[in-house]
Amino acid sequence: MFAFSALVLLIWTSHFFIILSPHLSIRFINNIETRNQTMISEFILLGISDDQELQPLIFSLFLIMYLVTVFGNLLIILAVSFDSNLHNPMYFFLSNLSFTDICVSTTTIPKMLVNIQTQNHSITYKGCINQIFFIIVLFCFENFILAVMAYDRYAAICHPLRYTVIMNSYLCGLLILLSLFISMMNALIHSLMVLHLSFCTDVEIPQFFCELTQVLNISCSNTLTNNILIYVLGGLLAGIPISGIIFSYTRIVSSVLRISTAKGKYKAFSTCGSHLSIVSLFYGTSLGVYFSSPFTSSPKKAAAASVMYIVFPQMINPFIYSLRNKDIKVSLKKLIGKMRCFL
Ligand SMILES: *[C@@H]1O[C@H](CO)[C@@H](O)[C@H](O)[C@H]1NC(C)=O
Repeated sequence: MFAFSALVLLIWTSHFFIILSPHLSIRFINNIETRNQTMISEFILLGISDDQELQPLIFSLFLIMYLVTVFGNLLIILAVSFDSNLHNPMYFFLSNLSFTDICVSTTTIPKMLVNIQTQNHSITYKGCINQIFFIIVLFCFENFILAVMAYDRYAAICHPLRYTVIMNSYLCGLLILLSLFISMMNALIHSLMVLHLSFCTDVEIPQFFCELTQVLNISCSNTLTNNILIYVLGGLLAGIPISGIIFSYTRIVSSVLRISTAKGKYKAFSTCGSHLSIVSLFYGTSLGVYFSSPFTSSPKKAAAASVMYIVFPQMINPFIYSLRNKDIKVSLKKLIGKMRCFL
């Protein structure tokens, strides 16, 4: 609980920093030279399609996906917090993951739904910077949680006797806070770099949320430094967790192969199955969209493809865990029984 409050506090302080910094940098720019430069106050989010007839369909589809995401992940969080059988690191990390999934969807989808409903596709400059900031924080954090979960599985399978000593509550809290801190620094760097860009006449973003790369594309300043930072920090902050995950799983596989009975092998692997599915879904979709983007001809197709990494995994994650994991299934049944008594 302490870790959780610290988390919220950290997010909010950096958020205020972001809100204040446009004022600081505007004054800074004005003082130096570019007085004739127009400061734009909003962007236009073009969305997935501009076909009027498709709008109700897109609206209902995204509303359903949003509700399923929030409901599914909320169930996981409730199941983990109410069932003392699930009070161990693996499920704490899982509920952190679910919480992050809810936040990712909440930064993008509600704004999009409101835009479709009011037929006003604008987003304020501040709103756009906020979306960029939160998406980077949450994505980076999710990426680290997946690595931490892999390390947890490694400790559980390769060092079963020392597991509770290795993954003590102090280390768990520390890992979560450290991941969050790094993610926030990363997001802060990227958002502050965007604040220094100027935008001329083109304010249309071919996307349904403010995506960092799309915003860089429409800027009329030189974005070389921004792009270099994206590659260097992105490569580093994705590369380290991915190598951690690969390392953990090679150790896990080699130690499982040493187990002689088929039943023992199955038991050891079954706790990894859900995690491995989520890892493949997360990296598969984000890397897939990332590498296919240079080959995507139209910006509309690129926008539709981004649904694959910003909406889809967040919606599917709770199902992967609740369908495959016996403990979660039992706990969900108990929780639903309790809710029924309550109503
Ligand atoms: C996230 O993980 C930490 C450390 O294990 C735990 O204390 C906290 O309750 C978790 N937060 C949520 C929202 O589940």
